Amino acid sequence: MDENLIQDRGVAGTARQERPHAAARHESRERIAGGVARPEPHDSGARHVSGEARYIDDMAELPGTLHIYVAMSDRAHAEIKKLDLEKVRAAHGVACVLTAADIPGENDASPVFGDDPVFADKIVEYHGQSIFAVAAETLALARAAADSAEIVYEDRDAVITLDEALEAGADLLPPHEMRLGDCDGALAQAPHRVSGRVRIGGQDHFYLEGQIAYALPGEDGDIVVHSSTQHPSEVQHNVAKVLDLPDHAVTIEVRRMGGGFGGKESQPALFAAIAALVAAKTGRPAKLRLDRDDDMVMTGKRHDFLIDYEAGFDGEGRIAGAAFDQAMRCGYSADLSGAIADRAMFHADNAYALNAARIRSRRMKTHTVSNTAFRGFGGPQGMVATERMIEKIAFALGKDPLDIRKANFYPAGGGALTPYHMEVTDSVIAEMVEELEISSDYRARRAAVRAFNATSPVVKKGLALTPVKFGISFTTRHLNQAGALVHVYKDGSVMLNHGGTEMGQGLFVKVAQVVAEEFQIDLAKVKITSTRTDKVPNTSATAASSGSDINGMAAQAAARTIKERLIAFAAEAYGVPREKIVFRPNRVEIGDEEMSFAELVEEAYLARISLSATGFYATPGITYDRETATGHPFFYFAYGAACSEVAIDTLTGENKVLRVDILHEVGRSLNPAVDMGQIEGGFIQGMGWLTTEELCWNGKGELTTHAPSTYKIPTANDRPDDMRIKIWEKGESQVETIYRSKAVGEPPLMLAISVFSALADAVSAASDYKVFPDLDAPATPERILFAVDDVRRQAAEATAA
Ligand code: MTE
Ligand code: HPA
Ligand code: MOS
Repeated sequence: MDENLIQDRGVAGTARQERPHAAARHESRERIAGGVARPEPHDSGARHVSGEARYIDDMAELPGTLHIYVAMSDRAHAEIKKLDLEKVRAAHGVACVLTAADIPGENDASPVFGDDPVFADKIVEYHGQSIFAVAAETLALARAAADSAEIVYEDRDAVITLDEALEAGADLLPPHEMRLGDCDGALAQAPHRVSGRVRIGGQDHFYLEGQIAYALPGEDGDIVVHSSTQHPSEVQHNVAKVLDLPDHAVTIEVRRMGGGFGGKESQPALFAAIAALVAAKTGRPAKLRLDRDDDMVMTGKRHDFLIDYEAGFDGEGRIAGAAFDQAMRCGYSADLSGAIADRAMFHADNAYALNAARIRSRRMKTHTVSNTAFRGFGGPQGMVATERMIEKIAFALGKDPLDIRKANFYPAGGGALTPYHMEVTDSVIAEMVEELEISSDYRARRAAVRAFNATSPVVKKGLALTPVKFGISFTTRHLNQAGALVHVYKDGSVMLNHGGTEMGQGLFVKVAQVVAEEFQIDLAKVKITSTRTDKVPNTSATAASSGSDINGMAAQAAARTIKERLIAFAAEAYGVPREKIVFRPNRVEIGDEEMSFAELVEEAYLARISLSATGFYATPGITYDRETATGHPFFYFAYGAACSEVAIDTLTGENKVLRVDILHEVGRSLNPAVDMGQIEGGFIQGMGWLTTEELCWNGKGELTTHAPSTYKIPTANDRPDDMRIKIWEKGESQVETIYRSKAVGEPPLMLAISVFSALADAVSAASDYKVFPDLDAPATPERILFAVDDVRRQAAEATAA
């Protein structure tokens, strides 16, 4: 983002303060260093690349630290007939062995439903489920000891795939439905109809730092756990529940995660609970760190979906009604699946006014790992089906899919309802797409792609421009709250703490920028600290992309409280009216006098003014009645659009993304540098999900893709050479968010649907655009090859007939 834009927005600028005393004469130009809207680097950016950023496994180990290995089920569904751990207990170096029988409290580490046992008790329900833990002097000794366990199983019937679950009618949670208008009537009366089906695969989080917990026993049974978690309060509560302690006896700390992506929203509780159990039983510090393979086998992933769609439309492609039947694989327990399935439904419209809609959702139980939150939280899966539907409409009418998209966008002026009856009042998607269509040179390139394909028998190109509209807020109302704690020390330096966690997304620097802006002090004066449950209690997960929205507001409120006290103090001490006290960059004007921020703070301290405050924020206006599936579950929507061009080799299925143009909306950016990173990273992660990352389970329910050797995430080499990313300069939140910024964490992932759509376009080209390809995700080379063969066969059959 260019500097002019930042200055134009009037929030902050570029010129640093040079001479404090002369500065008042240049008021409009001087700024604090690192305020809001500045493209500040991530506070740990240099440490991330130098290796100096400390993760839990980098902490100096305390003397006596035990290392834990968790023994897993090697059956998908079975009864444990015998569990003989005598040899394990007797093995060299073993300090303790724990099973379900050793749990003083509840045998559960679930987020909501009470259905995630810490250790399987008699029944195992997935291949990889935790059965017992061994704590030993080293991890190698613990692992070796676990091998000598004698376990006798009696197998039970296992349901592994989504299709098997649907066939067996194995619903884990009750089905749910959303309705808008008379969908059946709209479908029946529409001049044209299409229907189709798409399968969408799951995704492993592949955070660089795996699941880890380090538990430290304290006095009186108290315990501190360093946990790599997006949700310290939930880990605290689960540890307390398992150990039968009050929440106040358990403190969770997390300085940073090496990535979470939703995989550390609910999943870390199990590992923290086991580490805490060992620490409580032995009185020794205990560390549990999963290696990559065990992490991939034991922890939940993005849900795979099967979606049937149907749409009725007119000759211009305007949708009269659309119906979706979504089914998802939850795995063996509920975890967050209910909310994830709901969010898939909330995004079945993507950016389109469907006019009439029926969305059904089934949440299926399988004997596989319990699937969980993953960037987008079900939304991306819902949207893939919508975009396929749009493309099928375009195919049926022989039109460009972009024209169908544009014919159906939520109107800018409001008026249209979502399938959950919320009016979309902030739609900027038409304007953004118009801009991207021009800046990406879409029409000319589409013609060029067609021309290329006409003369290229083997390599085919594809192009697609797809929109994103993503609802911001936790759809579970009570989670939309945040707290912060701010201390100002006597020297004018500031300690900042809030309930949000840092996973690489740049939350900490953004919230620090907000506090720096509030006090008008340089960013360097604000100390970023670890998230701890004893500093800010009862926090929500850092999730739903709302981290900076809600923690930024809470921190601002805390800083404001202190600032108000300073103003009240100065007004009285100097006998000037409150309006005459103005916070200028790093100093304060008090009537005709001026002093540094630190000087005022020092004076306030001597006058016995409290320089510490908490702040709290609850997102306003969120009402949703799940019973009737109507209401206002989101504070606002974030928008974006991407145009991707790809090439496929029709002999091998090999493919490449040639160019990507992105226009993404972040409101008024709190930090354009961080936001650009989120947009690029989210896109690449989504591209991996839809192209190369494929999870495979064998018939026994064993995950066969549990290492980078068999599971392919994008690397730096897979980043398209030609990527043109722009933050939408006109962006500005229409509701009162922190400095009118918008959430950016998840929405960009869905920009990658453009790659999937472009691949489908290229496959269609292999049939000379005569056949609509039923391409499933991920579009691996194998699937692309099958799809090419399929469209060519169909085209040949049609010609023969
Ligand atoms: N970016 C990085 N680098 N690492 C992550 O783990 N998680 C994503 C997104 N961006 C993630 C990330 C997910 S799933 C969410 S919900 C948001 O960040 C959470 O942070 P925020 O609410 O502060 O944006
Ligand atoms: N997003 C992420 N996490 C959540 C949500 C959500 O909407 N609801 C509950 N947990
Ligand atoms: Mo993000 S999936 O809401 O942690």
